[in-house]
Amino acid sequence: MPRLSQWIIRTAFIYLLLGFTFGALLLMHKGIPLHPALWRWLPAHIEFLLMGWIVQLTMGVAFWILPRYWKSPRRPQALWVQIAFVLLNVGIWLVVAGTTFRAGQWVLLAGRVVEVGAMGFFALHAWKRIVSREGA
Ligand code: HEM
Repeated sequence: MPRLSQWIIRTAFIYLLLGFTFGALLLMHKGIPLHPALWRWLPAHIEFLLMGWIVQLTMGVAFWILPRYWKSPRRPQALWVQIAFVLLNVGIWLVVAGTTFRAGQWVLLAGRVVEVGAMGFFALHAWKRIVSREGA
């Protein structure tokens, strides 16, 4: 597994831990009220698990597993995946700032735009690697 995939997948696991922690707290809060402000963490719970965990894990595994150009020892356009990795994580925290921390609609929108940028960079890298075993 390439080092970049290791970093992306480890980061995804951190979000899984965060997302499950807030999910568990919210679930407890429904039975035993803990703190009225806890519901503000619902958007963070969703963001951590959908973007931080599921999307990020997919990115990390896809960078590893998609077919390479067989004659080259390196995976192509790794820089684009590095950019996608940074953008996705900046986007996640902008969305959390715009929702949980109430930084405003524009921060939320900026977060979503940055996340779409991350998808774009990742798709650009992946496009040529979506090939059959014979490389066609
Ligand atoms: C990959 C795993 C998960 C994903 C993608 C996920 C996603 C979501 C989403 C989208 C919502 C909003 C649902 C809505 O508003 O109708 C939600 C709500 C919630 N989730 Fe999760 N969740 C996950 C795992 C968990 C876990 C493990 C827990 C608890 C240990 C949990 C606890 C909750 C609670 C308490 C709510 C609020 C439900 C309510 O509105 O009454 N979630 N989650």
